[in-house]
Amino acid sequence: MTIYLNGEFMPIADAKISVLDRGFIFGDGVYEVIPVYSRRAFRLAEHLKRLQHSLDGIKLANPHSDDEWTRLIDELIARNEAQDQYLYLHITRGVAKRDHAFPNPPVAPTVFMMSNPLPIPPADLLSSGVACITAPDNRWLRCDIKAIALLPNVLLRQMAVDAGCAETILIRDNAFMTEGAASNIFLVKDGKLLAPPKDNLMLPGITYDVILEIAALNGIPHEVRKISVTEIFAADELLLTSSTKEVLAITQLDGKPVGTGKPGAMFARLHKLYQNFKHDVMRGNA
Ligand code: PDD
Repeated sequence: MTIYLNGEFMPIADAKISVLDRGFIFGDGVYEVIPVYSRRAFRLAEHLKRLQHSLDGIKLANPHSDDEWTRLIDELIARNEAQDQYLYLHITRGVAKRDHAFPNPPVAPTVFMMSNPLPIPPADLLSSGVACITAPDNRWLRCDIKAIALLPNVLLRQMAVDAGCAETILIRDNAFMTEGAASNIFLVKDGKLLAPPKDNLMLPGITYDVILEIAALNGIPHEVRKISVTEIFAADELLLTSSTKEVLAITQLDGKPVGTGKPGAMFARLHKLYQNFKHDVMRGNA
């Protein structure tokens, strides 16, 4: 696997960073995950915009212009074999003597990128849907920043794995649903698609935006508003989205069936439309 680190492409085994890197010491950095279909980065402009938002959120200067990122990303894709890949971009505040405050003067940030083959959600997951649990959202109040400091998300996602489930759906203040530990969540009620608002309490998902765009383009009734915890247990359908999982049906929540307990009509429709969208836009067939 060829990776990129601080200006150079190299085999992953040769990549080394200092133990004083602020990413290692403080989790002081941000990241992006970008899917690549047929060797083309999906929604690159939107991912780079979100990266800028995250960098602004942690007051770290962007080390590259969008054109430079695009060139580096294209080269990383070219140097890796799979047609469909997922790219991981990671920027930290760099290497400095340990002090919580930012290094002054600033030091060079650490810029790391890698590519892995993009796993397609297996057919049985699409036909059966996935089981989820709920848990209190105990993260900080800047979940809109795609921070590398992911310990709460790691612990919340592990709760799901320990329960034999795919994801943990997060409930803020015992009152409303924010997102999954590593995904966004949609609700379907009476034929309407509901999405929580993109505020400081959730990551503004790129797949989330695509789903809402597809809904608008295809006349699917939809609304963006806060979703209460009571509503998620009375949903006809629940859907999970992310760059690596695309769209999946949630068919069980805390051990109880969601709706009929089988992937529903809205899932089937959106999944098909998402595949068409990818095919048309990304594979150059539009
Ligand atoms: N995670 N919310 C959280 C907390 C996430 O970590 C992710 C994605 C999403 C979905 O965002 P998008 O549609 O842009 O992938 C929502 C990535 C895949 C990860 O950390 O690996």
